[in-house]
Amino acid sequence: MSSDMNPETGTKWHPVCQVEEIPQFGGRTVRAGQTEIAIFRLGDGRIRAVDNRCPHKQGPLAEGIVSGDTIICPMHARKISLESGEVLPPDSGCVKTYPAKVEGGQILLQL
Ligand code: FES
Repeated sequence: MSSDMNPETGTKWHPVCQVEEIPQFGGRTVRAGQTEIAIFRLGDGRIRAVDNRCPHKQGPLAEGIVSGDTIICPMHARKISLESGEVLPPDSGCVKTYPAKVEGGQILLQL
């Protein structure tokens, strides 16, 4: 397990789950303290992680639909970039994103 500290940000990599626990185009939720984080496996295999609360009305983003690099909120269908965390026009807002990487089949988030 890796938890090497980033000296610039003071953050660490934390193992959260195995890649195969998330279906392609799917998401799941993990907890980090009081924070719920939605992790997604995109169609091309990339892993992306954002806060699991839509900035509109707190919709659970892990239950949304992955479409390319975006997640579509399950509540009112706002589209949110999984790269920047920004809600796409014509709507606005943003969610926090978390750096993610895979090592030995395990997903690690920088928290
Ligand atoms: S709660 Fe996500 S679009 Fe309304």
